[in-house]
Amino acid sequence: MRIIVVSNRLPITVRQGSAGLTVERSSGGLATGLKSVHEQQGGLWVGWPGFAGPPATEHQESLHARYAELAVVPVTLSAEEVEQFYESTCNGVIWPLFHGFPAQLPLEIPDFAAYESVNRRFAEAVIEVWRPGDVIWVHDYQLMRVPRLLRQSLPGAKIGFFLHIPFPDSDTFRIMPSREALLDGVLAADLIGFHTAAYARHFASAALHVLGAEAGVEGVTFDGHRSTLGVFPMGVDASAFEAMSKSSQVDAHVATFSPDRNVRLLVGIDRLDYTKGIPRRLLAYERLLHEHPELRGRVRLVQVAVPSRTQVDAYAEFRNTVDSLVGRINGRFGTPSWAPVHYIYRNLSEPEVVALYRAADVMVVTPIRDGMNLVAKEFVASRPDGKAVLVLSEFAGAAAELAEAVHVNPYDVDGLARALFRALEMGDEERVTRMTTLRHRVMTYDVAWWANTFLSRLTAVAQAVPLSLATTPKKARDLTLAALIEAKSLVLLLDYDGTLVPITSLPDLARPDGQLLQLLGGLAGRPNTEVHVVSGRSRDSLDRFLGHLPIALHAEHGFWARPRGGEWLSRHRMDDGWRPKALEVLEDFAARTPGSLVEEKRSGLAFHYRMADREYGPRQANELKLHLASMFSNAPIEVLAGDKVVELRPHDAHKGQVVREVLTHAPAGALVAAFGDDRTDEDLFRALPVGAVAIHVGSGPSVAPVRLAGVRDVRLLLEGLLQGQVG
Ligand code: G6P
Repeated sequence: MRIIVVSNRLPITVRQGSAGLTVERSSGGLATGLKSVHEQQGGLWVGWPGFAGPPATEHQESLHARYAELAVVPVTLSAEEVEQFYESTCNGVIWPLFHGFPAQLPLEIPDFAAYESVNRRFAEAVIEVWRPGDVIWVHDYQLMRVPRLLRQSLPGAKIGFFLHIPFPDSDTFRIMPSREALLDGVLAADLIGFHTAAYARHFASAALHVLGAEAGVEGVTFDGHRSTLGVFPMGVDASAFEAMSKSSQVDAHVATFSPDRNVRLLVGIDRLDYTKGIPRRLLAYERLLHEHPELRGRVRLVQVAVPSRTQVDAYAEFRNTVDSLVGRINGRFGTPSWAPVHYIYRNLSEPEVVALYRAADVMVVTPIRDGMNLVAKEFVASRPDGKAVLVLSEFAGAAAELAEAVHVNPYDVDGLARALFRALEMGDEERVTRMTTLRHRVMTYDVAWWANTFLSRLTAVAQAVPLSLATTPKKARDLTLAALIEAKSLVLLLDYDGTLVPITSLPDLARPDGQLLQLLGGLAGRPNTEVHVVSGRSRDSLDRFLGHLPIALHAEHGFWARPRGGEWLSRHRMDDGWRPKALEVLEDFAARTPGSLVEEKRSGLAFHYRMADREYGPRQANELKLHLASMFSNAPIEVLAGDKVVELRPHDAHKGQVVREVLTHAPAGALVAAFGDDRTDEDLFRALPVGAVAIHVGSGPSVAPVRLAGVRDVRLLLEGLLQGQVG
């Protein structure tokens, strides 16, 4: 099995030296984690090499040879794309929003065109190298449209997506103007992975509230496709960190960072990013020195800030805040022989980083929000001696796993100062006990474990798309269409909402468009063809929408029938005794369910909740259903749940009745084809004679053997029937 990894950054570093450009493998978390996956069986990595524009012509040839050698496929970005896609949209909008900082958004959110077009370029680069059987693994917030763009060209591909940053609660997510496009993009993947259960839950909730998808923590079904959701906390290359921590190369650096063993070290290592909590960490340290004068001269905070995204405004401003806080603390407490904060603003080499992990008495990882935070895990892996303490923010994804760290609320500066003191004072026994358990977890669930678990789950779920939910393949659809075309005489029974027109928030807005009217008119004029629209709607709305067409109409689930060119007739005797009481109950529920409404039909009553909250609406509907069922268990009525509606109607006034009546008038041997999308159409399907065709529209359970994805496919099929053409 060949894996194609797709991420914004390639796992390489391109350097301009005296000998021209050199390209080296880089050692970031993802790069190391996927190294073996990438190297096995011709794997490829598609991504951005990290600089704007194409390389100078004189370097192009050698660079491309090197890319091929490293099995990477570059997606080059122009300076304009770097600015609009990477800086403005990814890091200016999606990053702050997903971390829960809407206040960081620019007044005017840039439009989505650059994001879409760069994502398309990534998808095209993948499509070019993809071969049947390949597995594609797309990474992170920069590439959320890629799964969808891939799926359009590679319908059968196995596609996984992993989000490395948090997914915010659905109210925060909804701020994003292109929220539907982002969700729709990811929901074309077979498996969607997150670091924590909370992010997966937020994602499912956004899919439900924003798209109205069928969503639970296990998975989301959208547009006929099922995506499985999974929690896969990313690990680090733990044994490599442990080995390096013992190397002599690291020993030398430890001595420089910690020349005086009487000064105990608190260490922070972060990309210089406003999510990392550096200012409040500095304030807490200042408070610690203020409240514990005995610590002055005996502790030091080494804070490494790795330069990052310096072209994005929020980052440049943030740098000034950190600089001035460091200056203030050093100015306030520093002496000629002691600087309280040792501040380093540059990229450190890996041995230098590990040396700091080793030199630390207390590692301070206090982001105000972080998807996972691998620094915490690298530190644990680098401390086989166990004599150090990890202070960890409860807002880092890692906190869900690293329970034995000292957890802190990074917004509570006082509490943080107390936690730092406690960590410094902690006895050896407690330190070692905590660290031993932490180490066990970090060493076991390392990055190789993470990659393997994700990929084996992806292979399993991509093979197991439940047949019951899959739409009928084109070939089988064509056979159905051919049977309809060839039938000597044909009876079409068509549901309206959700089948011929999309469901709209206000039922009155679901008017037929010109194309539909033409299509129905055309079918009615087709030789030996009867067209019946079978709906739950009232007579009045069917009259208004379709009354002028030469077709038969059936209103209120068949309670009323209007034959072609005739008048409305009732099929039932009216027994209305139950009505006033039921109406009272429905109105009471509607009053307590914002966005719902009661519809009074001649034969029945309906409680519609299409516009209600997508979690609260169904919950209320369920309660209403149970309430009505027990209240009217002896009345001649039936309570049933349709698509976003609970209905009360006389017994036997269901769509199945229509079939019986229509068949008594239809020519012998006529082929009946019924189309419908919700629970009420199942009555229709069940009443069909042997040999009839039942076609279900959308996802969800159905007895119908043929399944179409949506209204568009229904219309395509009917159009094919009218033209007498398959394909
Ligand atoms: C986070 C993101 C990564 C990103 C990294 C560095 O870890 O999840 O996708 O690559 O930060 O950010 P940069 O903007 O330099 O790629």
